[in-house]
Amino acid sequence: MPIEDIGQFIKELENAGELKRVKTQVDVNLEIAEILKRIMYANGPAVLFEDVKGYDMPVLGNAFGSIKRLEIGLQTSDFTEIGQRIVDMTKMEIPSGFLNKIKKLPELSKMGEIFPKLENSGPVTEVINDSPSFDKIPILKTWPKDAGKFITFGLVATKHPETGVRNLGVYRMQILDATHALMHWQKHKRGAHHHDIAKEKGKKIEVAIIIGGDPATVFSAVAPVPEGLDKYLFAGISRKKGIKIVKCKTIDLEVPANAEMVLEGYVDPTDIRDEGPFGDHTGYYTPKEPYPTFTLTGIMQRKKPIYLTTIVGKPILEDSFIGKVIERSFLPLIRMFQPEVVDFAMPAAGWFQGIAIISIKKMYPGQAKKVMMGLWGLGQLALTKIFVVVDADVNVHDMNDVIWAVTTRADAARDTIIIDNTPTDTLDPASSRVNLGSKLGIDATQKTKEEGYEREIQELVKTDDATKELVDSKWSKYGL
Ligand SMILES: Cc1cc2nc3c(=O)[nH]c(=O)nc-3n(C[C@H](O)[C@H](O)[C@H](O)COP(=O)(O)O)c2cc1C
Repeated sequence: MPIEDIGQFIKELENAGELKRVKTQVDVNLEIAEILKRIMYANGPAVLFEDVKGYDMPVLGNAFGSIKRLEIGLQTSDFTEIGQRIVDMTKMEIPSGFLNKIKKLPELSKMGEIFPKLENSGPVTEVINDSPSFDKIPILKTWPKDAGKFITFGLVATKHPETGVRNLGVYRMQILDATHALMHWQKHKRGAHHHDIAKEKGKKIEVAIIIGGDPATVFSAVAPVPEGLDKYLFAGISRKKGIKIVKCKTIDLEVPANAEMVLEGYVDPTDIRDEGPFGDHTGYYTPKEPYPTFTLTGIMQRKKPIYLTTIVGKPILEDSFIGKVIERSFLPLIRMFQPEVVDFAMPAAGWFQGIAIISIKKMYPGQAKKVMMGLWGLGQLALTKIFVVVDADVNVHDMNDVIWAVTTRADAARDTIIIDNTPTDTLDPASSRVNLGSKLGIDATQKTKEEGYEREIQELVKTDDATKELVDSKWSKYGL
């Protein structure tokens, strides 16, 4: 059965030895963040801080900070299965004819189970606060030179102003005062897109910030799902059961009924202020940049909510593990568009948008470049700075194997492409301008005669069978 909320997730983590409780009083100003960082860098557990100075609310951090915790949260150890379910849905035929439809009913009704279900109330509607304020929430300051306190793990809900498709994205928010914050949705993200459409219409955009919820909904907010797919439906696909949703009180949005807390309000495209600096997951402080302002209009919450947070900084921290699960779960979708792709890795040290390694089964000349170009046109992969394409015999998760392929199969002049003036991740500290920079593609596949390789392809060294068998049979006798 899928996990329904943060309380249940905490219990499951604790049972698995993946969570520790801290009863000593701790401060939201730098102290909690420093503890969480140290624990993450030492591959430690999730932490529940029960006594937070000045607040009546516990703080949960590092909850998704290991593959084991994500397996518990998403109730699977095969993350590719999640993406495969989406691929299977696109292939599903709705038969014509009454009898054929009846035959398909079990399959169709199973599909119906994953849709979000609207309820009149839920745990998150237990307390409705008409005089809302950020001041009662234990929001952290992470790094000493951060511009202030930031909500780092809020699931930001918006609705496409024209199609009505619901979205969730994790976008950090800098607190300005009791009812105002800055919304750091980067230019290429869906929340920013919804905002831009509302702006064109001369309207404000309604926004709800969800704290907590079931783990699959939290995951769906980070996941780069295909355009047009409702993130609540994606959460249902991930957990094989639809999530319960309720209506907000002051705005026209639906939110997960099992959330800990929902902050309702709107973003005004005409109210732009300087956001940052903030110590980000590149390991650098992102400098001040203009972002729009969120105004808080209402809060719904549980009687005893838990504040879910996360710490970002130089990898590897909690978000790296979420990124790993995205990498695994989206492989089937990548293969749907680029069928020759065998495997795909986004090393955590490259903060995910920095570098990706792709292995392919090469069938024709120039195919590695075709794959790069295809992926640079696919959703958030458009922001990846460096693609390295290798043959199927290379393990994309083993950097020794990847470096071996790059240095033995790629010639710098022949096998690299650089494309200038392309969209880059807003956080990229290296590009000369924000949101605009260049791409590097390295074709590290074995070159063929058709690709202009004039020499004989050198043979890979390999032990012969007779020697292998001889050494195998005598291995125990060598005393090694
Ligand atoms: C901890 C954490 C913090 C994040 N902060 C931001 C942020 O401030 N701005 C942003 O645009 N994306 C941020 N992201 C990445 C987005 O959540 C991610 O790209 C997501 O797919 C966006 O959803 P969308 O495609 O629906 O816009 C963050 C991700 C994580 C895990």
